[in-house]
Amino acid sequence: MKISTIAVIMAMADEAKPFIEALGLKPAVSAFDSRLPMEVYTGAVEKAEVVLVVGGKDRRFGVDNVGTQPATLSTYLAIDTFKPDLLINAGTAGGFKSKGADIGDVYIGSDSIRFHDRRIPIPGFAAYGIGSYRTPDVDDVATALGLKKGVVSTGNSLDMLPEDRLVIQANQGVVKEMEAAAIAWVADLYQIPLIALKSITDLVDTDTPTQDDFLKNLNLASEKLQEKLTAAIYYFAGNERPFA
Ligand code: ADE
Repeated sequence: MKISTIAVIMAMADEAKPFIEALGLKPAVSAFDSRLPMEVYTGAVEKAEVVLVVGGKDRRFGVDNVGTQPATLSTYLAIDTFKPDLLINAGTAGGFKSKGADIGDVYIGSDSIRFHDRRIPIPGFAAYGIGSYRTPDVDDVATALGLKKGVVSTGNSLDMLPEDRLVIQANQGVVKEMEAAAIAWVADLYQIPLIALKSITDLVDTDTPTQDDFLKNLNLASEKLQEKLTAAIYYFAGNERPFA
């Protein structure tokens, strides 16, 4: 199937800014109900339409809408309004030094996308909690774009409790972030392929506090993300056989 509409889902304005500028995307006003905080930008790459949905600000707290609930809603709105052929969740993430990650590395989610903070030790519910949403075969695009590959692991906290660490280890997670599995759940409901692109701001298995590294490296990682995300859009736009 030819990819003619690509919807990119991003949580934070600072993550999205370099990408909006690089592609010259324009705000699409009134795309969604005016009560919703999500922001929409649109543009074209070759013959494909590119739609970007950013989570916007929380009305009460004034900060970016990060985490799984806004991501779920953004994805639903993007699908319902724009009927994309491909979803890309792009953002920043924590990496593991012990698994070879460096600040500014960009990973593509491979194998599956999993939750690490939905621990429900009841038969059937344990596997439901983890989710394990299969990714498409990303080998070709990873090689073409020079991306690292690995299991993306999602939870609603920036820090990492010992329980989270154990689940991430058991799940072979190499990228820790806060949205991808929620987006994967919606993508799976609608049977739309989802790619996760994650740029590393911090190394969660070092002594530096995650939030310090995150704030220090957010702009650098967002710039690296933009380079790979733009390349991914050009790779997928109009592509009839994007996955091996
Ligand atoms: N986003 C950037 N770094 C992160 C981390 N360490 N955990 C969750 N989300 C992140």
